[in-house]
Amino acid sequence: MAKLNGAVKAASLVYGLAATTTVQAASFDPLTYVDLLIGSSNGGNVFPGATLPYGMAKAVADTNSGSNQGGFTLDGSSVTGFSVMHDSGTGGSPSLGNFPLFPYTSCPGGEVDGCSFPKNDRVKFGAFSNESVVAKPGYFGITLNSGAKVEMTTSQHAALFKFTFPDAGPDDKPLILQDLTDLSNSRQDNGTVSVDGDTGRFTGNAVFVPSFGTGTYKLYFCTDFAGADIYDNGIFVNSRASADVKDLTISRSINGYPLPGGAFIRFASAQEPIYARTGISFISSAQACSNAEKEITEWDVDKYASEAADVWREKLSPITIEAGEGVGDDYIKSFYSGIYRTMVNPQNYTGENPLWDDGEPYYDSFYCIWDLFRSQMPFLTILDPTTLTEQIRSLISIYKHTGWLPDCRMSLCPGYTQGGSNADNVLADAYLKGLKDGIDWEKGYEAVVKDAQVEPYAWSTSGRGGIDSWKRLGYVPVQDFDYKGFGTMTRSISRTLEYSYNDFAISQIAGGLGKKEDQEKYIESSGNWRNLFKADQTSFFSNGTDTGFKGFFQAKFLNETWFTQDPLMCSNLDSKSICSLQNSGAETFESSTWEYGFFVPHDQASLLDLYGGPDSFVDRLSYMHDQQITYIGNEPSFLTVFQYHYAGRPALSAERSHFYIPKYFAPTPAGLPGNDDSGAMGSFVAFSMMGLFPNPGQDVYLIIPPFFESVSIKSPVTGKTATIRNVNFDPTYKNVYIQEATLDGKPYTKNWIDHSFFTEGKELVLTLGDKESSWGTQVEDLPPSLSPYNSSSEAHTTAPAKRSYVPRFDGGILGMMFS
Ligand SMILES: *[C@@H]1O[C@H](CO)[C@@H](O)[C@H](O)[C@H]1NC(C)=O
Ligand SMILES: *[C@@H]1O[C@H](CO)[C@@H](O)[C@H](O)[C@H]1NC(C)=O
Ligand SMILES: *[C@@H]1O[C@H](CO)[C@@H](O)[C@H](O)[C@H]1NC(C)=O
Ligand SMILES: *[C@@H]1O[C@H](CO)[C@@H](O)[C@H](O)[C@H]1NC(C)=O
Ligand SMILES: *[C@@H]1O[C@H](CO)[C@@H](O)[C@H](O)[C@H]1NC(C)=O
Ligand SMILES: *[C@@H]1O[C@H](CO)[C@@H](O)[C@H](O)[C@H]1NC(C)=O
Repeated sequence: MAKLNGAVKAASLVYGLAATTTVQAASFDPLTYVDLLIGSSNGGNVFPGATLPYGMAKAVADTNSGSNQGGFTLDGSSVTGFSVMHDSGTGGSPSLGNFPLFPYTSCPGGEVDGCSFPKNDRVKFGAFSNESVVAKPGYFGITLNSGAKVEMTTSQHAALFKFTFPDAGPDDKPLILQDLTDLSNSRQDNGTVSVDGDTGRFTGNAVFVPSFGTGTYKLYFCTDFAGADIYDNGIFVNSRASADVKDLTISRSINGYPLPGGAFIRFASAQEPIYARTGISFISSAQACSNAEKEITEWDVDKYASEAADVWREKLSPITIEAGEGVGDDYIKSFYSGIYRTMVNPQNYTGENPLWDDGEPYYDSFYCIWDLFRSQMPFLTILDPTTLTEQIRSLISIYKHTGWLPDCRMSLCPGYTQGGSNADNVLADAYLKGLKDGIDWEKGYEAVVKDAQVEPYAWSTSGRGGIDSWKRLGYVPVQDFDYKGFGTMTRSISRTLEYSYNDFAISQIAGGLGKKEDQEKYIESSGNWRNLFKADQTSFFSNGTDTGFKGFFQAKFLNETWFTQDPLMCSNLDSKSICSLQNSGAETFESSTWEYGFFVPHDQASLLDLYGGPDSFVDRLSYMHDQQITYIGNEPSFLTVFQYHYAGRPALSAERSHFYIPKYFAPTPAGLPGNDDSGAMGSFVAFSMMGLFPNPGQDVYLIIPPFFESVSIKSPVTGKTATIRNVNFDPTYKNVYIQEATLDGKPYTKNWIDHSFFTEGKELVLTLGDKESSWGTQVEDLPPSLSPYNSSSEAHTTAPAKRSYVPRFDGGILGMMFS
């Protein structure tokens, strides 16, 4: 990649000389490498439209795809409208997509009723050619085959649309409608719209249902138009419209079919562009109007698109690379596009929260923390700590006002919890990495302790279930007796494992806050995962062949006898089982006990023992990947790519990351292996290619060689630049084995590093070779683990008895937490 290489080399060389840095760095534009259409087909569900970082307004064309969770898809579907609110990468039902606009060059016969109003009818005017789609940070444009070219950009709470009609005749009177609907047709009773006959302004609101949660939310809008003179305007219901009526309040449905209804406006001419500006608000129509009036004062899409691009450029600029001769653009695109997607969701709704106003930031679309805690939120700790700090404050504020930290939250509503109370991990990660500004850590601690101690009535959306049994038995039983709170009584294995890790997260914050007793108490319960280890559990493929591995987690009844779940159930090889939140679901969530078998992120040393020592641990991990028992398209797999580090085999983590990237992560519309889950997949790619992968909830990054010759990250907190540089870099990735390393010039043999690398701007130089070396393989090189490594030189074949832990750390910040 010669072109970039030159520019960036110059940039990184001058980093030491503050005065000239900006001039040089300006020659590198990371936006060149951001492709918004990655993940816009094949179930990526990515939002590929115009937005500011964390923006509430997200404008794009919506399609009628079965996988339109992010609004737009490039899969042969047709456009149904252009709307302002979206989520990105989510599963569940399609989110938001409220109040879409739709344009016609003219209505047949000049009669307003000649135009098609209902979504189901107008979709036949929504076909487009792929080539007409232009998606760039801050901008989205598309041309419908039926004639209208539609371009859009956004501010924080408003979108500006430009409609041009290239094929219009002199007598055409273009119509734009706005529909009181959303992507999943969830509008409730009494949606309303009013049209100001003189100005053409539409104002209205409706109540909708969140896409993966409970309750409802009410959203307001305000749309103004500019361009040609107004010809007429009014409202429509179903397929009929009238300029004589300006106000509509509409029922949800008749016989279950959501009634189409909304407003329309026609213009005297289609010869010049028509502009529509839609402001949105959760507070009132008046606030929707004032948001739009304040933020978008000119009818100029290019101006606001260019301002949005500048904001994005600034956001991405702390990370620069020296790609290395011969590295393809595809890698750079996957990298920067992944980074971009970490800053689309969660969304900053500060000032737009109708539920409370306590002066704290309010973020929404934590969708879901089960996905986000693993690498997306840790990524923001490095790249955008200011925003992550606001997100943490917002989580704590949500706790103050609703009583609970969320695991999932969207559109002002509680979302469904998938496993543990994983906001605990997010708080621990941020706490250990030193996030402070305005975070009330005592309050945050109170919140995580409540997760561990108090069972919510609805543990389907907050906290944890089965707390009595958890405390009494040290595990969540299958078919638990639980009359205190309610949630889907499944996932007893994965919940036990996640609750154990959540407790470890709590112990770390306790340690830091000087709460010694709590620290020990939660370290103790963080060992509960052991209670579900069944040493004699075997695993056979469905054809009867023995995998040869013995010892898996298994569910247990209340009476402490074993339940039986096939260790391959809910694995990537199992296409039959029900593994999500259904009542009939499995004892593991969205994955198998094979994979959950590695989810003891805090005590890998014990796991090494249980699996018979480092060699058999490595065999099992490799077997799981090689047999495709795990699926890189779902988040529990992320850490397993790098867990070889704990067995003293960092070389195999490097190999494994190249096994998945680029094969499963290509910069194409179909290039993601599953839902992006906000930017979870994006952050996986970004961290992997950067050469550092977090063990989230701990101050630990596992080191592999970056996929580029070097990567530099300027800390937004301290202004210092950290660099990871490969020596003997090889773009064909045969040299992916670290032979030796230096940190700030001194030999470094640990296979992990802590967050001070970023804040103190250290330099890690990795010398590569084409064979595994002894670097990072010794016990003293391994990442922290709760139990000591090699506590017994003999492999265990049975679970060691539950014991009191004597934490032992070899240093680093984790070690200090316990001293
Ligand atoms: C547009 O691209 C998508 C995704 O690659 C493809 O499925 C669809 O068939 C394409 N449409 C046309 C008209 O080429
Ligand atoms: C909708 O409006 C009608 C008429 O005013 C009223 O009877 C009904 O209760 C309203 N529905 C809701 C859900 O507020
Ligand atoms: C979030 O939004 C509020 C209100 O618009 C703004 O003051 C704040 O700076 C935003 N946060 C970030 C990190 O941009
Ligand atoms: C059974 O299935 C496994 C996994 O697909 C495969 O590796 C193995 O070769 C199969 N064995 C037989 C006898 O077909
Ligand atoms: C334990 O409970 C299970 C499930 O109710 C039952 O099938 C089993 O027989 C019980 N075992 C004993 C020893 O009570
Ligand atoms: C554990 O000890 C054995 C025997 O002393 C040694 O071969 C092995 O490499 C050690 N494992 C780790 C992870 O250091």
